[in-house]
Amino acid sequence: MKILILGAGGREHAIGWKLSESDHVPELLFAPGNAGTQALGQSLDLDPTDVSSVVAAAQAHAVDLIIVGPEAPLVAGVADALRAAGFQVVGPNRAAAQLEGSKAFAKAFMREFGIPTAEYRLLHRDQESEAHTWLAEQTHGIVLKADGLAAGKGVFICRNPNQAFEVLDQLWKHNSLGAAADIIVAEELLVGPELSIIVAVDGINFRTLPPAKDYKRAYDGDLGPNTGGMGAVSPVPDYDTLELSLIESRFVEPTIKGLQARGLNYRGFIYLGLLRSRKGIRLLEYNVRLGDPETQVLLPRIETDFVDFCVAIAQGRLADIRLEMRIDAVVGVVLTAAGYPGAYPTGMPITGLDRAAALDHTLVFHSGTRREGDQILTAGGRVLTVCAAGTRIEDARRKAYEAASLIDFEHKTFRTDIADGL
Ligand code: AMP
Ligand code: GLY
Repeated sequence: MKILILGAGGREHAIGWKLSESDHVPELLFAPGNAGTQALGQSLDLDPTDVSSVVAAAQAHAVDLIIVGPEAPLVAGVADALRAAGFQVVGPNRAAAQLEGSKAFAKAFMREFGIPTAEYRLLHRDQESEAHTWLAEQTHGIVLKADGLAAGKGVFICRNPNQAFEVLDQLWKHNSLGAAADIIVAEELLVGPELSIIVAVDGINFRTLPPAKDYKRAYDGDLGPNTGGMGAVSPVPDYDTLELSLIESRFVEPTIKGLQARGLNYRGFIYLGLLRSRKGIRLLEYNVRLGDPETQVLLPRIETDFVDFCVAIAQGRLADIRLEMRIDAVVGVVLTAAGYPGAYPTGMPITGLDRAAALDHTLVFHSGTRREGDQILTAGGRVLTVCAAGTRIEDARRKAYEAASLIDFEHKTFRTDIADGL
């Protein structure tokens, strides 16, 4: 079996690693992949959002299954085009990818299907003075979100109206995110522990993966700017069994019913970003894919053959598959280049990868890396996700940080409090 994985990050390295453990011994291709995925399979030099090139590559290599890692190719319609060409795909079609591609679409979907979410209203670029008047009254803080895709840079937490005006200036006067911010979702600022719930859907049936927690802020103590994710842990003791079953009935099931009611035939992973506030649990966002770095801590916990699992998603046969777990806890620490999520240097040689990976129960997934001759160089803001497994979160955490300390590159930075106190 030949499987093509679209994407270039830690999530895609983890997907490839998990598939490579399967009894089916699949042949793997990555487009474009990174220095880590090169050890698992061939790299194809193509842009995953270039839909016709992806279809042509899938045909040229006669692949049996395509797994789409990131959101941009899904929003661009890569799954539609691949399915039209007769391929099996893990990843929703363009219409369903709007759940991530448009925050206004996602909010309307939540409202329609009775899924609890933060109160909100839409602000339109061509009604700027109305937006100002309304924002001036929001003294309790507000969150502004660009409607369209912004690679994790479209959410702004504003504690007072002045901060909100500054964001509006950036988005509408300086046009920092272009048309992605023509519509802004303005919603109530909620405070509380977050939770990532990822669900595999085959159109009708679904399997909920174990809960994971992502550390989104750049600095220790949840301070600093939002990032793509600085670390992750699974499971998440912040939420008890009762709350997890409530999430299943109030959030996951209505989501699946909504997808069916809209006739979206969703085949792929859907990610629910939840937060427990004083008012109760609220859904902040959908992603139409696996999370990064959540995937790096979730997949090592799964016992079920991942080739069988992904094929079942693509073929609508999840009813036949049980999701079995093995490892109790996994902690992942993301090593970044100083400056991320702002500007950062690249091209620094990385040392210690083999020593770290040789430790027991440790996995090092590459995010932004590339190979040059014998060297592996940094090639992104998030460089590696260093993961370790244990019977307790505390053990996994200690091992992950031990492994992280063996790896070095100039300007290496990381949070020191991932999974602390859990
Ligand atoms: P989103 O892409 O909508 O999930 O937003 C990214 C991150 O911004 C979330 O994971 C939260 O950390 C934060 N965030 C989003 N919406 C809210 C909100 N209404 N209140 C507080 N924080 C939020
Ligand atoms: N870790 C959050 C995301 O993948 O969007």
